[in-house]
Amino acid sequence: MQFRLRDGRTIPVEMHKSKVVQTIKLLPAEDRLEAIRGAGFNTFLLRSGDVFLDMLTDSGTNAISDNQQGASMCSDDAYAGSESFYRLTDAVKRVWGKDFVLPVHQGRAAEHILARFFVKPGSFLPMNYHFTTTKAHFTMQGGTVLELLKPGALEIDSDEPFKGDIDVDAVERVIDEKGAGNIPFVRMEATTNLIGGQPFSLTNLRRLKAALKKHGIPIMLDASLVSENAFMIWKRDKGAAGMSVAEILKEMMGLSDIVYLSARKSCAGRGGMIITDRKDFYDGIAPMIPVYEGFLTYGGMSSREIEGIAVGINEMADPEVAGSSVEMINFGVEKLKRNGIPVITPGGGLGIHIDAKQFLPHIGWEQYPAGCLAAAMYIASGVRGMERGSMSVDRSADGKESPSDVELLRLAVPRRVFSASHIEYMTDMAIWLFEHKDLVGGLRFVQEPPVLRFFMGKLAPVSDWDKKLLDAVEAEFGA
Ligand SMILES: Cc1ncc(COP(=O)(O)O)c(C=O)c1O
Repeated sequence: MQFRLRDGRTIPVEMHKSKVVQTIKLLPAEDRLEAIRGAGFNTFLLRSGDVFLDMLTDSGTNAISDNQQGASMCSDDAYAGSESFYRLTDAVKRVWGKDFVLPVHQGRAAEHILARFFVKPGSFLPMNYHFTTTKAHFTMQGGTVLELLKPGALEIDSDEPFKGDIDVDAVERVIDEKGAGNIPFVRMEATTNLIGGQPFSLTNLRRLKAALKKHGIPIMLDASLVSENAFMIWKRDKGAAGMSVAEILKEMMGLSDIVYLSARKSCAGRGGMIITDRKDFYDGIAPMIPVYEGFLTYGGMSSREIEGIAVGINEMADPEVAGSSVEMINFGVEKLKRNGIPVITPGGGLGIHIDAKQFLPHIGWEQYPAGCLAAAMYIASGVRGMERGSMSVDRSADGKESPSDVELLRLAVPRRVFSASHIEYMTDMAIWLFEHKDLVGGLRFVQEPPVLRFFMGKLAPVSDWDKKLLDAVEAEFGA
């Protein structure tokens, strides 16, 4: 809930209270420098015990509710035909209106199976924007990803409420050029992870459906953050006026022929699913589940996780839950913007996204400005964010690097985990770092994996900037 204080500020008021908590600690600045050096200046390689506010991701880190916890205690551990699975399929049918559920162990497992089923060499795969694991699976099967965002979607500071919309005219041009037979689906990601968690509108999805119907091309929905997307439609889309979040979710699902998600992000702590009401898709995909994941009624998940997802699906249709991180993100974004920090606006789902290109204009993309900002933010504050820029773009087959469309430090805001004072701390430290941005320098790879290099790659600073930044932090805040 948003609440306007008498001093004029609007704050997010948490509509939940804590029952179980986990202690976190802020290491001395010198130890933080040691830790990030040991991690090769890659925040993925930090130990979480060395992190104060863990804003790396919302994947598997959202808080679960008492009802989810309770339900998971009453799960049915049967290998085959588990009652927990039937409670899940009932929830999917009731809340999202879809008939068939194929469980998998997490989102990328769904992508692996969908890539095997739909994609072959010569396939063209239009989408609003790619996600790292999605692109890896689709291109490994020989497909070509085509990103068809509408103009202005990559502008950092913007009033455009739906930067995740797909350009439907461009989709039609691609169908004319490549032929409908070479386009197994058009993928919509709710909310576009790599470009600031930006939503698409229901109006856009309806238009896409109408355009694809005549060609018989299905819509594939990556529903990993579908509730946040639905919440932003509820708040911003005139085409959905008068609808509830639950009705919006049901229509989004109804317009999509094949839906998959990472339940780690969407509605529980673990797991994933492929959902469809197309019997032909179900029959084609189902035989792969026991081969790659597990039997059809658990798909690599524990029955406890399945129960958590079943309850989570119900909870995520509640605007107080669907909007909880969106409102916290907006709170942080507004404060950063007021203080002149380049940040993606409007705030989206998933996290707060700071533009490293503008924050660190003296660092060229070849030295990974977003990676430098992530490392510097950790040294300064103990907050762990994630690089979403050129480090996250793998080299092409001929070994060349290319710049990312955007250079972002993503500070994830998992659902119902952080309080408004955590956001105040993090944003304050970002403002301090901006005032000292000239101290931050570049990075270079010293160990570089060939695929998804951002996960495991190690880097080193190109000068002794890390030590100089530490000195400034200690001078300001003490050791
Ligand atoms: C949009 C999107 N799709 C797919 C995935 C992959 O899901 P998982 O991490 O569960 O494998 C993610 C994970 O962050 C995601 O954000």
